[in-house]
Amino acid sequence: MTMQRSITTFSFALLASLASGIFLVVQAQQNPGFISIDCGAPNQYIEGEMNIKYETDEGFIDSGENMQVSSEVMYTYHQQYLKNLRSFPNGTMNCYTLRPDRGKNITYLIRAVFWYGNYDGKNRIPSFDLYIDVNYWTTVWFSTYNCEEIMYVSQVDDIQVCLVNTGNGVPFISALELRPLDGDGYRLGSGFLQPHWRYDIGLSSNSSIRYPDDVYDRIWQGENYNVWNKLNATSAIDLFVNNNAYKVPGKVLRTAQRSMNASTPLKLQWSSITTNKWIVYFYFMEIESLTSGQQREFTISINDNQFTETVILEYLKPIVIVSTPVSGWNSTFSIESTNKSGYPPILNAVEFYTIGDLPNVPTAQDDVEAINAIKAKYHIKRESWQGDPCVPSNYTWDGLNCSYGNPPRIIWMKLSSSNLTGEIVSSLSHLSTMEYLDLSNNQLTGAIPETLARLQNLRYLNLSGNNLIGSVPEALKKRALDNTLIMSLTGNANLCQADPCPQKKKPKKILVLVVTPVSGFLIVLFGALAIVWLIKQKRIAGKSSYLSCTLHLTTILTLLFLWYSAMSFLR
Ligand SMILES: *[C@@H]1O[C@H](CO)[C@@H](O)[C@H](O)[C@H]1NC(C)=O
Ligand SMILES: *[C@@H]1O[C@H](CO)[C@@H](O)[C@H](O)[C@H]1NC(C)=O
Ligand SMILES: *[C@@H]1O[C@H](CO)[C@@H](O)[C@H](O)[C@H]1NC(C)=O
Ligand SMILES: *[C@@H]1O[C@H](CO)[C@@H](O)[C@H](O)[C@H]1NC(C)=O
Ligand SMILES: *[C@@H]1O[C@H](CO)[C@@H](O)[C@H](O)[C@H]1NC(C)=O
Ligand SMILES: *[C@@H]1O[C@H](CO)[C@@H](O)[C@H](O)[C@H]1NC(C)=O
Ligand SMILES: *[C@@H]1O[C@H](CO)[C@@H](O)[C@H](O)[C@H]1NC(C)=O
Ligand SMILES: *[C@@H]1O[C@H](CO)[C@@H](O)[C@H](O)[C@H]1NC(C)=O
Ligand SMILES: *[C@@H]1O[C@H](CO)[C@@H](O)[C@H](O)[C@H]1NC(C)=O
Ligand SMILES: *[C@@H]1O[C@H](CO)[C@@H](O)[C@H](O)[C@H]1NC(C)=O
Ligand SMILES: *[C@@H]1O[C@H](CO)[C@@H](O)[C@H](O)[C@H]1NC(C)=O
Repeated sequence: MTMQRSITTFSFALLASLASGIFLVVQAQQNPGFISIDCGAPNQYIEGEMNIKYETDEGFIDSGENMQVSSEVMYTYHQQYLKNLRSFPNGTMNCYTLRPDRGKNITYLIRAVFWYGNYDGKNRIPSFDLYIDVNYWTTVWFSTYNCEEIMYVSQVDDIQVCLVNTGNGVPFISALELRPLDGDGYRLGSGFLQPHWRYDIGLSSNSSIRYPDDVYDRIWQGENYNVWNKLNATSAIDLFVNNNAYKVPGKVLRTAQRSMNASTPLKLQWSSITTNKWIVYFYFMEIESLTSGQQREFTISINDNQFTETVILEYLKPIVIVSTPVSGWNSTFSIESTNKSGYPPILNAVEFYTIGDLPNVPTAQDDVEAINAIKAKYHIKRESWQGDPCVPSNYTWDGLNCSYGNPPRIIWMKLSSSNLTGEIVSSLSHLSTMEYLDLSNNQLTGAIPETLARLQNLRYLNLSGNNLIGSVPEALKKRALDNTLIMSLTGNANLCQADPCPQKKKPKKILVLVVTPVSGFLIVLFGALAIVWLIKQKRIAGKSSYLSCTLHLTTILTLLFLWYSAMSFLR
């Protein structure tokens, strides 16, 4: 009885621990679609406060080296992902490749975090450029901690985040995060949005709000303007009012500031020396229960009415106002009470975005796939072979040249003396606009694939100095004869270049039993005949001994083997 109970208890404990194990797994995966990389980290871990799994660089980038911030400043910030970083002393452009589950044509929030922390002991903070796919994103330059963010819609499934050395120190990165956003709230017709500030107005300015309160993991910085008044929320507010289109957390909306009195507008001025195109997102929610029948009503205006809109608030109902693009190096918005509302204007949260352009078009997708297959097949490890092969045009992969139409294409490839081994990969024939192909002085083996003749524009082909065998495809030979193709095949001892190729005798091979369908069939046939014969023999011999039977069998098998050998030889 006691025994049974203890077993039951044990199974319950086991079940419970299993269940909690499962629960943990589920917990860690409850942020589907997130990619979180702690650059330079030795191993992955679950970040405790947010319950987000941070991975190492593995599988996202090959280049660079893991470093740790100086031990003297290690505890300046509490975030684990700021303690390590990955630095890129080699190569001009080093790229992370992100493969979000949801693929292309989704808006992603991508955040790159940098904290120098004197990791190299030089006390000299570098500056470098960031690229998103083939386009310039921003220049990273900072005094301490820096966080660059972008709202980006990718046209292809992979997203590349590249650090570009501009000669102002060694690029590095501390963390890289990607979050998928639902809907088109942050999508532009073309270009991308780059947040300048994202303020939770009324929250104390030394704190911020992010995941899991914000399901998109936007980071809302607390901001209190002392010329404005803090609003007193009159009732407990549901902290999970996430059902607005922009999923702004209730925690962000429940604080707000207002102007001194109804005749004073809320005014804010901002400026930038690098950009003058802006979009402002205003978030409002009435959190004071006003005298019944009363409502706050006010008009928003940006830069001398480049954008205006009038808003009426209802108690606890979130309202999002997205401005049209406005321009100005020095910009101002004002939120002014209309005369019939006796109440001062309020603001719960606000985001300022600059608009970035995406002028560069990536290389044709077929070419990108083909060149990546070639890179993988031959294990090509060149510093410049990262990111897009052709774009930006001053960072084209070493050994390639491209045509810069729409889209850019690879037209020229020189991989001579590059230690390429194995057969000529068929992906080469997918680079359909290729004009010049030099694979000389490698250790390429096998035959020249017929598919190379599919390269219609090919006018130079150098395969000299390899170990190619077989004959040259007729179509290529013909083009060489027509003088539409310069072809060099010298230094391939076993490649037949005569026309027609003499039918060479096959070198005598040591006999190997290869069961081809025909010989297999013959063996079975002979075996069957032998058995029939044996049975017959047995009947004739009557009580003939086991020994003689075995002898017969051996003879038959020997004959069979000899016959098979002879056949193989003749073939
Ligand atoms: C940078 O290049 C040097 C010389 O080729 C090499 O020794 C070093 O390991 C490289 N470092 C990284 C991080 O790739
Ligand atoms: C991309 O998504 C938008 C909606 O988010 C849709 O209107 C558009 O057709 C999509 N484009 C492609 C190429 O799928
Ligand atoms: C933020 O500042 C307030 C006072 O300004 C202080 O009471 C509070 O402890 C600070 N919080 C943190 C996390 O530093
Ligand atoms: C909010 O409440 C505090 C304390 O109750 C008060 O001092 C302050 O004036 C109130 N603020 C507003 C805007 O009513
Ligand atoms: C509103 O506030 C402003 C600035 O504090 C002040 O100059 C003005 O007299 C106030 N108006 C009223 C009606 O209280
Ligand atoms: C913007 O404002 C600053 C001072 O606030 C001023 O120095 C600068 O000239 C202004 N720029 C423009 C374009 O008006
Ligand atoms: C609002 O009232 C002020 C004076 O109180 C007046 O000058 C202004 O013209 C009024 N505005 C509107 C739109 O009625
Ligand atoms: C590449 O081109 C961009 C834009 O034209 C320029 O800003 C950058 O300095 C160039 N980089 C190099 C290494 O030439
Ligand atoms: C292609 O680029 C190489 C450098 O990578 C250069 O030497 C060569 O002249 C270029 N060829 C053409 C046809 O542009
Ligand atoms: C060529 O490749 C072989 C094997 O992949 C490697 O051992 C060798 O070091 C390489 N040589 C050069 C010059 O890269
Ligand atoms: C082919 O390549 C070899 C070695 O790189 C070179 O010596 C030869 O001149 C090239 N042939 C042609 C026709 O360019």
